[in-house]
Amino acid sequence: MAEPVLEVRGLTKHFPLRHGLLGRGRAWVKAVDGVDFAIHPGETLGLIGESGCGKTTTSKLILLQETPTAGSIAFEGRDISGLHGAELMAYRRAVQVVFQDPFSSLSPRMRVEDIIAEPLEIHTDLSRAAIRERVGAVLDLVGLQPDVAPLFPHEFSGGQRQRIAIARALATDTRLIVLDEPVSALDVSVRAQIINQLEHLQRTLGVSYLFIGHDLATVAHISHRIAVMYLGKIVESADSDTLCARPMHPYTKALFAAALPSHPDDPQPERTIAGEVPSALRLPSGCRFHPRCPAAMSVCSEVEPTLQPRDDGGGVVACHLYG
Ligand SMILES: Nc1ncnc2c1ncn2[C@@H]1O[C@H](COP(=O)(O)OP(=O)(O)O)[C@@H](O)[C@H]1O
Ligand code: SF4
Ligand SMILES: [Mg+2]
Repeated sequence: MAEPVLEVRGLTKHFPLRHGLLGRGRAWVKAVDGVDFAIHPGETLGLIGESGCGKTTTSKLILLQETPTAGSIAFEGRDISGLHGAELMAYRRAVQVVFQDPFSSLSPRMRVEDIIAEPLEIHTDLSRAAIRERVGAVLDLVGLQPDVAPLFPHEFSGGQRQRIAIARALATDTRLIVLDEPVSALDVSVRAQIINQLEHLQRTLGVSYLFIGHDLATVAHISHRIAVMYLGKIVESADSDTLCARPMHPYTKALFAAALPSHPDDPQPERTIAGEVPSALRLPSGCRFHPRCPAAMSVCSEVEPTLQPRDDGGGVVACHLYG
């Protein structure tokens, strides 16, 4: 298999939290707590889990917006912590991001053409004419007409704004896009259009995606492989078809059960998993999922399970029910 575009090993981010009147005593928010994954060229890795499980912190570590407490991130075989100067610039060109809310990520006072040109102006020495040409080309790639270039973000619908954010992410020689809940704020019909557009762009350009979401149906649709994250840890990972056909970890199963379409008369429009995600400040002992797990056994509150190969060889799972 080709070398991964991105390889994350033992990635950890603990945020210090001072408490007490004099700031004495230190507690740690274990947002990301030893995560491994790899993303290959042209591949989409889905990262799924409920809110507060450490998905955005993982993306911030990759985007160099946070510094890891431990662990490593390698891009095309090179550890990114050692990059500086031209190599750091090249990394920032190659790895781009699209956030959930295009309203906050697109400057309201900038025209579309300037929003898309910005990364080119910062990270390249292209001439103005070449930049203008590139802006037109990426607008075309995401299905927008060139005449939208002089408009402002508020003149677009949510879906179109997300297309602009994707165009911006593609403007440089992008090899990986971190998509952090990119369709969560959009209507269901628009969601499908954006997902199809992303898939089309991947087929055309060979770009890789880290697709972060909490909606299993969407993540499963777009991803080649899926990693399920709970309280800072990957609890199961497998290729998308295997995971959907046979989820093994009770948390993955609970995510699937919550994703089942509800009855039209169901007063609860969105099903959720029983119980709340505990605070990352006070992690449960043993298996972090044990207070919510319908299959919990006595060993579960005492011993933390480690990732082991699934019995069908299709990935890994961390649960005492197996092995
Ligand atoms: N800068 C920070 N300082 C302290 N805690 C943080 C910080 N950023 C995130 N957290 C905490 O880390 C945990 C994971 O957050 P996050 O990565 O945003 O999760 P997700 O994207 O999966 O919802 C949460 O408990 C959150 O409150
Ligand atoms: S280790 Fe135990 S508590 Fe954790 S998911 Fe498996 S059965 Fe449930
Ligand atoms: Mg998040």
